Amino acid sequence: MLKEHLNTFSQHQTPFYAYDLRLLRQILDTAKAEAGKYGYHVHYALKANANAPILAEVLQRGFGADCVSGNEVKCALEAGFPAEQVVFAGVGKSDAEINFALDANIFCFNVESVQELEVIQELAAAKGKVAQVALRINPNVDAYTHKHITTGLEENKFGINTWELEGLVERFPSWPNLKLIGLHFHIGSQITDLRAFENLCLRVNEIQNWFEARGLVFPHLNVGGGLGVDYRSPDEKPVADFAAYFAIFDRLLEKRPAQVVHFELGRALVAPCGNLISKVLYLKHGQKTNFVILDAGMTELMRPALYQAYHHIENLTSTLPVKTYDVVGPICESTDCFSKDLELPETKRGDLVALRTAGAYGEVMASAYNLRDRVQAIYLF
Ligand code: LLP
Repeated sequence: MLKEHLNTFSQHQTPFYAYDLRLLRQILDTAKAEAGKYGYHVHYALKANANAPILAEVLQRGFGADCVSGNEVKCALEAGFPAEQVVFAGVGKSDAEINFALDANIFCFNVESVQELEVIQELAAAKGKVAQVALRINPNVDAYTHKHITTGLEENKFGINTWELEGLVERFPSWPNLKLIGLHFHIGSQITDLRAFENLCLRVNEIQNWFEARGLVFPHLNVGGGLGVDYRSPDEKPVADFAAYFAIFDRLLEKRPAQVVHFELGRALVAPCGNLISKVLYLKHGQKTNFVILDAGMTELMRPALYQAYHHIENLTSTLPVKTYDVVGPICESTDCFSKDLELPETKRGDLVALRTAGAYGEVMASAYNLRDRVQAIYLF
């Protein structure tokens, strides 16, 4: 399918990300329709990909913005997201970032520690403002995903531990510049075993009941993101099962009357539409291993080096019989390897290769290590 764009690709300097905006629209429309069935509010996690043409598509669907830095808040606002649709999470918000978000009157701070509450109280008081906050609670629920992208276990740095809540509730009346509007949870990313979300719902119910027993009912409940995508067969199922995903929350989450349920999806919305297009620089035949050396490396797509993540690799040029290769990048690191023992059509210098499903956490995580040029992006309409 990608091969139909070979002519376009060959006119651009590699490596570059190619984003299929048609597919993006299809995914966003599906997510919107499925969430809409239950009145759920979806925020897009900018950390997955903050490119302007992508944000424009997201914005058109009326999604909110989930941000994890002052610059992401700024980027969301500049892209046109209304401030009242912006949420700001993160364990380490600096004073400058908090002040910026206060000035912008964002919808909500997802607060990750007791000390952060104290700081937001102080900074909001200094401005004579009241900040809306949601408590990000660490629910201690396993996401059954790679340990580096699990966030909702007690051993992870994210969120407020449940044993801290009693003391926190008692202190809330002494924070007049904070308005507690909701609870926030996020257990991890690339979750493909949907039972993790079932467990999350049950845990959220317990925690909501705990608050309710203390007279606290919140207008907002944010259950985070994390829905995974199929990295193995990108052409078969590019649209994640949003219907099954949202249905779990409808079935299990004990929503209070008039309570708004929020989601923060990143990967499932944008991963499938992005491909890293690279050119084969060299072939090298070792004693045992044939190397394909690409002009893209871990600097352009860090996920394989960082999490041993799989990205399907496709030779767009060759139609020859397959051979077995290790596909590596040009960076001076042995972990700069995209795939080992991979069967590809016999590959030659100059062939174009696509690393699939790279629209989320690809370009945004690119680095300049080895003083590499910034990777470029093109858009297929
Ligand atoms: N909300 C919060 C609070 C988050 O921390 C994240 C992702 C999301 C929402 C969006 O999650 P998603 O729907 O995209 O799974 N760089 C890693 C992924 C890190 C995810 C960090 N948090 C990777 O390449 O796999």
